[in-house]
Amino acid sequence: MGACDLRINLGGMEMKNPVMPASGAYDYFEHNADVFPMDRLGAVMVKSVHRHPREGNSAPRITEVLGGMINAVGIPSVGIEAFMAQELPRFDAIGAPVVLSLSGHAPEHYYESAEIVADDQRVGAIELNLSCPNVGTGLPFSATWLDFMDSISEGVAMPLGALLMSVWIGWFVGPKLIRDEVDLEGHKMSGSLYGFFNFCIKFIVPVAMAFILYGMVADFMIIPKP
Ligand SMILES: Cc1cc2nc3c(=O)[nH]c(=O)nc-3n(C[C@H](O)[C@H](O)[C@H](O)COP(=O)(O)O)c2cc1C
Repeated sequence: MGACDLRINLGGMEMKNPVMPASGAYDYFEHNADVFPMDRLGAVMVKSVHRHPREGNSAPRITEVLGGMINAVGIPSVGIEAFMAQELPRFDAIGAPVVLSLSGHAPEHYYESAEIVADDQRVGAIELNLSCPNVGTGLPFSATWLDFMDSISEGVAMPLGALLMSVWIGWFVGPKLIRDEVDLEGHKMSGSLYGFFNFCIKFIVPVAMAFILYGMVADFMIIPKP
């Protein structure tokens, strides 16, 4: 059987096959250079390049867990100007078109970076990284109003509702009402279980919910790092 023709045209970029590594997930130089003949890739996708230099998260950034790994690298970047001058030339030798993944935390960052690279023949295509939630900055402007409503209902309304309900039941209505309800169902709440429930609903639940609510609200207020 002859070789298959896997060529595709992706938005004007010719690729000999539709295979390219995901952004940030492949190290073309330091560790993987001899593992795979990279000129056989349809394209090379670079790790997202931020508009301005940024350090990313502090170590540890990656850890193994059962069945996989968790990473919070935080898009460290030299910034688009330094990338084009110092890092892009390294990709010339690979022999596959380069897809440039751009990141930023404001729409202007994407326009500016795209303008800087627009006429550069070494860039085959641009990908916009609008979703990387681990930098806490991509989502706000790529999310829809439904995502916003979702985070309000899950992040604020639910812990606030639970906080108010526990205060109301624990301190105003009285947990006895709950015990009576349980009894009505034909179950019996023992004295020690009732004491534990009483303590939890009065003290533990309000404090825990207040912590969660504070954490969620503080998260909303994060000011993006440049
Ligand atoms: C260590 C690491 C770094 C990553 N860095 C970036 C990045 O810089 N830009 C980006 O858009 N995605 C980045 N990603 C996300 C990957 O591109 C990819 O979307 C993710 O691993 C999910 O791929 P999958 O759905 O095939 O598992 C990174 C992923 C990992 C594991």
